[in-house]
Amino acid sequence: LDNGLARTPPMGFNDWNAFGCNVSEQLIEQTADYLVSSGLRDDGYNYVNIDDCWMTKNRDSAGNLVPDPAKFPDGISGTAAYVHAKGLKLGIYESAGTATCAGYPGSLNHEQQDANSFASWGVDYLKYDNCNNQGVPWETRYNAMRDALHNTGRAIVFSMCEWGEDNVWTWGAGTGNLWRTTGDINASFGSMLSIFHSNVQLAQYAGPGAWNDPDMLEVGNGMSFTEDRSEFSLWAEMAAPLIAGTDLRSATAATLSLYGNKSVIAVDQDTLGKQGTEVSSSGGLDVLTKPLSNGDVSVALFNENSSTATISTTAAAVKAPSSSSYKLTNLWTNAVSTSSGAISASVPGHGTVMFRVSPGSGSSVGTTHPLLGASSH
Ligand code: GLA
Repeated sequence: LDNGLARTPPMGFNDWNAFGCNVSEQLIEQTADYLVSSGLRDDGYNYVNIDDCWMTKNRDSAGNLVPDPAKFPDGISGTAAYVHAKGLKLGIYESAGTATCAGYPGSLNHEQQDANSFASWGVDYLKYDNCNNQGVPWETRYNAMRDALHNTGRAIVFSMCEWGEDNVWTWGAGTGNLWRTTGDINASFGSMLSIFHSNVQLAQYAGPGAWNDPDMLEVGNGMSFTEDRSEFSLWAEMAAPLIAGTDLRSATAATLSLYGNKSVIAVDQDTLGKQGTEVSSSGGLDVLTKPLSNGDVSVALFNENSSTATISTTAAAVKAPSSSSYKLTNLWTNAVSTSSGAISASVPGHGTVMFRVSPGSGSSVGTTHPLLGASSH
């Protein structure tokens, strides 16, 4: 959506994957605190998003949505004020139907009134679900909320949770800033893999302000470390929203090392805004490439199988600019090597190796920077 927002894929946190309906002001505020103290805010994770179950089961006598006073004693406005004071933004959830998926009042036919509530509370991001839609066409439902948000005058990212229905990618860019391309993810390799296979085909529809959304990250929620690293790598390679779905407050150092990898985040957030595509996919071995704004390309080598395999490609195949030599930076180990064009790695089962491929830089590795001197390396 051309509203000036989400020019790179949104980053942040959402409570649903780890907490379901068990959301609260305390959880949101503690997560906000943690995003600041851990450094993740400064890595780009700036939206703290509330999912379903934040409100009471009935609207008030004036028809307004009411935050559950037991879960949100300071309301959404008080929660937003807290989050904003931390230099973060607040997201909320509703459904383009008569009720949310968990049975709370929906926004169908209440679009402007509810958008006005969100804006008055200081909300910066709306995840808009598809439950209980009564068969009303998507144009009516999602365009109504798009227009209602616009009418508030507040900058609110519009995240459409249409589960890939109605070929949402073909119309998504005119209506929202991101759109779910599949049903819900869960914390298993099989779920992650099937969503990857669907989402990776849709690269042509993505760009600044308009992203395919393969659902929130399950990193830290039960897959193996190798599988978690694959999800984070593949989501970054696909320019997906990076919305942490785990309880960050109790995340392990290993989990945080995945969420906090600046080099991989930089691939996701690259300003060219191109979603990576498959160069090859055969026998469960996948090669993906994503062009980057400075002329580098990011390459992901993904092994879907359970045993270790060597995955090989070339600079030409991944469309790196022609050069006699390349610098390959392994984005998970930081190891740097030079190559005349071969790109290859031993990849553990369910694992992903990521390289940044920089044309022409190989010969300068280890040399002295002309301005900074030898200590710059
Ligand atoms: C749907 C969405 C999920 C989550 C739940 C909440 O299933 O796809 O992401 O928001 O509703 O009830």
